Amino acid sequence: MYKVAILTLFPDMFPGVLDHSITGRAKANGLWDLKTYDIRKFSTDKHNTADDIVYGGGAGMLMKPDVVAAAIKAAKEDMPNARVVYLSPAGNQFNQERAAKLAGLEGGLILLCGHYEGVDQRVLDNYVDCEVSIGDYVLTGGEVAVFPMLDAILRNVPGVLGNSATLHEESFDNDLLEYPHYTRPLEFEGYAVPEVLRSGHHAKIAQWRLEKAIEKTKKVRPDLYKKYLASTKKEK
Ligand code: 6GU
Repeated sequence: MYKVAILTLFPDMFPGVLDHSITGRAKANGLWDLKTYDIRKFSTDKHNTADDIVYGGGAGMLMKPDVVAAAIKAAKEDMPNARVVYLSPAGNQFNQERAAKLAGLEGGLILLCGHYEGVDQRVLDNYVDCEVSIGDYVLTGGEVAVFPMLDAILRNVPGVLGNSATLHEESFDNDLLEYPHYTRPLEFEGYAVPEVLRSGHHAKIAQWRLEKAIEKTKKVRPDLYKKYLASTKKEK
């Protein structure tokens, strides 16, 4: 079973959407499990203070190192070999490759959600293994980023997707976006399904799909297209 711990000031947000559809079914089937830790419960004063002012000045509050470290230690009691990941806009970019790697962790995953201005640096230095961002935009907190990140990780956990073929033939696996797909009816509002897809000629279909994938990637993701060109050159 793939074990996940979420350290957050807002434990009620979880499991949320992860309890639905494919990830929800996989959780019900015992393929993964989620435990939330309410960071505020690890504060030691009577007001349950979890945040404080920033030394040196500046707007906002910071999560206190003693409180956050206590929460991490509690999660580690359960999962001593887990990887501790801090979700923050200042982290390394999360992507498909990282999702696949994190899915392979034997000791499980501890996700620390930052809020306010973030977490005291000493926690990041001494308790966190890596800092990860889901993209170049700022969210109000790491919690909402947990959903896309965990979903992308979980679909790489063996058994979560029933049909393992669909795990790979997808966007990003080969640095290309996906080719267009069609279903019935054959004609919709005057537009027909491309003839080649009805030809039954598998090699021609594969060639057409590759061309369409290249065309789309070049148009909407020139950065990815460059990567694709470089990787196809290397293969030759
Ligand atoms: Cl992981 N957290 C926050 N707060 N903002 C983000 C993010 C994470 N990734 C992109 N923006």
